[in-house]
Amino acid sequence: MLYFIGLGLGDAKDITVRGLELVKQCDRVYLEHYTSILTCGKEELEKFYQRDIILADREMVEQNAEEIIANAETQEVAFLVVGDPFGATTHADLVLRAKEKGIPHKVVHNASIMNAIACTGLQLYNFGETVSIPFWTDNWKPDSFYGKILKNRECGYHTLCLLDIKVKEQSEENLIKGKKIYEPPRFMTTAQAAEQLMHIVENNEKVEGGIQLRADSIVVCVARVGADDQKIVTCTLKQATQEDLGGPLHSMVIPGELHYLEKDAIDMWSNKS
Ligand SMILES: C[S@@+](CC[C@H](N)C(=O)[O-])C[C@H]1O[C@@H](n2cnc3c(N)ncnc32)[C@H](O)[C@@H]1O
Repeated sequence: MLYFIGLGLGDAKDITVRGLELVKQCDRVYLEHYTSILTCGKEELEKFYQRDIILADREMVEQNAEEIIANAETQEVAFLVVGDPFGATTHADLVLRAKEKGIPHKVVHNASIMNAIACTGLQLYNFGETVSIPFWTDNWKPDSFYGKILKNRECGYHTLCLLDIKVKEQSEENLIKGKKIYEPPRFMTTAQAAEQLMHIVENNEKVEGGIQLRADSIVVCVARVGADDQKIVTCTLKQATQEDLGGPLHSMVIPGELHYLEKDAIDMWSNKS
């Protein structure tokens, strides 16, 4: 049996009772370690679960998925995912492979950034397509997410922007040379996301239309949602380039049309006062 178990967003204790019972009874416990990170480390999880945990980075899940699946053929295997196992990342590949081999799977859901973002006061009903903002490099500056933000704004919808994280990535050079040397982990801050958006906005300045983002458009920046030191700041896009919300993880919302209650709610986090 393969169990997909969500860990929630805050700390080790956000796992559900059912999730914890399964972790304790499983023969092997993997922790998915590339699409999201928990504010506490692996050691704290191991201490709380009283179990050893195998870190499953992208390479392992993409290249050695067979190992995880093969174990689940004869053993009880837990695959832990920060947030909800199917929130933003689906891990559909693992599910499909398990199905193909006739290995049953079960899911234990938990809170995800996809629903916890409602802590900003913005209604989940009013969100459009979620976008991911990738780290730009000197010669790779994709901006297709901007078109999706504008599409959402056209319909009056808010956009949840998930920001890139690189947990164990090779530099372009090392990738080309086939050297398994990894860069230190890093995560995109709301300030970096705002910088990249400002860059796009400045290049689109001459484009007419009310839905375009501008330097003075309001954005809602969040950090460590669900943790004790969660932070929410409402400010302009330009101000967001200067806001320091501290440690990981960060996300940003670009509001669409605001119901007056939503407006009051996001004003609570305004850095004007
Ligand atoms: C690919 S998503 C993974 C979502 C996760 N499975 C879930 O259900 O929440 C990872 C991105 O979500 C956002 N994120 C996840 N947890 C967060 C948190 N607690 N606070 C703010 N942003 C968060 C960050 O932008 C992060 O890079």
